Amino acid sequence: MCGIVGVVGGRDATPIIFDALRRLEYRGYDSAGIATLVDGRIERRRAAGKLDNLAAVLARAPLAGVTGIGHTRWATHGAPTENNAHPHGTPRVSVVHNGIIENFETLRRELEQAGHVFVTETDSETVAQLVDFHLARGLSPREAAFATLRRLEGAYALAMIFAGHDNLLIGARHGAPLVVGYGENEMFLGSDSLALAPLTRRIAYLDDGDWVMVTPDGAEFFDASGERVERAVRTTALIAGSVGKDGYRHFMDKELHEHPVVIGQTLQRLIDPATRRVMLPDLPFDLAGLPRAAITACGSAFYAGLIGRYWLEGMAGLPVDIDVASELRYRDPPLTPGGLGLLISQSGETADTLAALRGMRARGQHILSVLNVEQSTMARESDVVLGTVAGPEISVASTKAFTAQLSVLACLTIAIGRARGTLTAAQEQDLVAELLDLPSRANEVFDQAPAIREMAAVVAEARDVLYLGRGSSFPVAMEGALKLKEVSYIHAEAYAAGEMKHGPISLIDSTVPIVATLPSGRLFEKTLSNLQEARARGGRLLVFTDTEGEARLRGLAEIVVALPTVSEFTAPVIQTIPVQMLAYEVALLKGTDVDQPRNLAKSVTVE
Ligand code: M6R
Repeated sequence: MCGIVGVVGGRDATPIIFDALRRLEYRGYDSAGIATLVDGRIERRRAAGKLDNLAAVLARAPLAGVTGIGHTRWATHGAPTENNAHPHGTPRVSVVHNGIIENFETLRRELEQAGHVFVTETDSETVAQLVDFHLARGLSPREAAFATLRRLEGAYALAMIFAGHDNLLIGARHGAPLVVGYGENEMFLGSDSLALAPLTRRIAYLDDGDWVMVTPDGAEFFDASGERVERAVRTTALIAGSVGKDGYRHFMDKELHEHPVVIGQTLQRLIDPATRRVMLPDLPFDLAGLPRAAITACGSAFYAGLIGRYWLEGMAGLPVDIDVASELRYRDPPLTPGGLGLLISQSGETADTLAALRGMRARGQHILSVLNVEQSTMARESDVVLGTVAGPEISVASTKAFTAQLSVLACLTIAIGRARGTLTAAQEQDLVAELLDLPSRANEVFDQAPAIREMAAVVAEARDVLYLGRGSSFPVAMEGALKLKEVSYIHAEAYAAGEMKHGPISLIDSTVPIVATLPSGRLFEKTLSNLQEARARGGRLLVFTDTEGEARLRGLAEIVVALPTVSEFTAPVIQTIPVQMLAYEVALLKGTDVDQPRNLAKSVTVE
């Protein structure tokens, strides 16, 4: 949830670390800090708030040194103040930490009894104080780090520097990601390869429980028991140049406009346009023999999974269980051995989804993950990865990753349907044709921007907003409500349209706008009736429909946005784009920090 970086080499460390922190700011932006070694002593600069504040501190008080560590924080324990900002430490050691030390209270008590004085409210300071305790007893940095790691419970990625050891970084990982980057006479540690992308593409991933001694000449890896281990160095494909706003005001706007391209790129990987067939990579299990699927994910990725359930059950005839990962991991549902464990994640690092993956594996599931970051921890722990070709998604609010996930899930549904015999070859070709049509249909959605802005003006005035949808449009409504909450801070709830009269209808009055997603098709009339019920009670209706449904809604709804008419199958992909655009436009009107909304972080690597 926080971003960490470390550098050891021959160049000025601070600018390198600061630049890497910029690329890690998506992980948290409550505070930031850097510590370096200057003539064997540890020097540190920290600031509350975004990195620009740290830049101002560094401008006033520059930081020399060729070895250092940096951190961008998403606060868990202790308020986001300068005092709680990382790096934490003592004159002997400085530490940056991503994760949560669950036994920090016990450790802190022990250390206080031994005379250590804590100066922050963080769990992370415990790590620094414990290393310091061991160093003070005469242990070497390596021995002190190992002795400390053996006492830590919870999740951590750590980077440490030591006074008097100008050419040494120690890193460790347990339940939170950490990579080692190989440069020319310089080495790096980072939360992910993206952070190190302009510095090096040669990356080694630590396995869970690993720790590493890094010097300018290389890295020595150890496992949790302290045994020397080898970790392969791979060349990553990430290019830092793709992480820019390209003239857009916000990353969210840029990423919204990438929907058509991303859908196209993702489909291209999985479809042979000549035969109009879905071509999955070789799988280590038989799709026809799957007894059922268990889907899990968090946030927007979970809503993509819900749409996947409509498809897999309705078109492939595969029974599906689905739950948010934070619930699934402690619910211990009996899963049928040999079933499909289907994980969905943009980052591939979300702590709950990763834990659910491990739980599913332990219960005999074949693990197939739909991931955007194909070098992520989940990727390495999956039997099969189906990549979403969305490119780096920087805005904390997920947009393009969602339609890319749907593109993969649609292809997977077709492949499973064919394998199970619920879809014929001719049906597969028709469905594939509908998918291949999506990029250009998605492009047409942007023609509706003026009407979406009109809707945004209504929503921006509201305190509460209801989102309604039925069938696969219900998860689209959920996605719309989440996005609005996230970036505009307006309270929003999504309901299955048919559930309205079982309670939420009592909320309806002229101050609560109702945003409905209502594509033409089997469920159109049913949902229309629900909207009429809402209108009869004074509700203000703002409706996303398609060109076919438009005429039926004129006169009933206050604002109608007519999207391109597509099949019922692909409608949720098209309908998602404008609900996300609506949230963006409302955020602009509210003047919020669109790309980095308060309290959030892009990658949730803590429970
Ligand atoms: O990286 P993941 O897809 O696993 O992340 C899951 C959620 O944290 C994420 O979708 C979150 O809900 C977004 N901020 C939604 O916009």
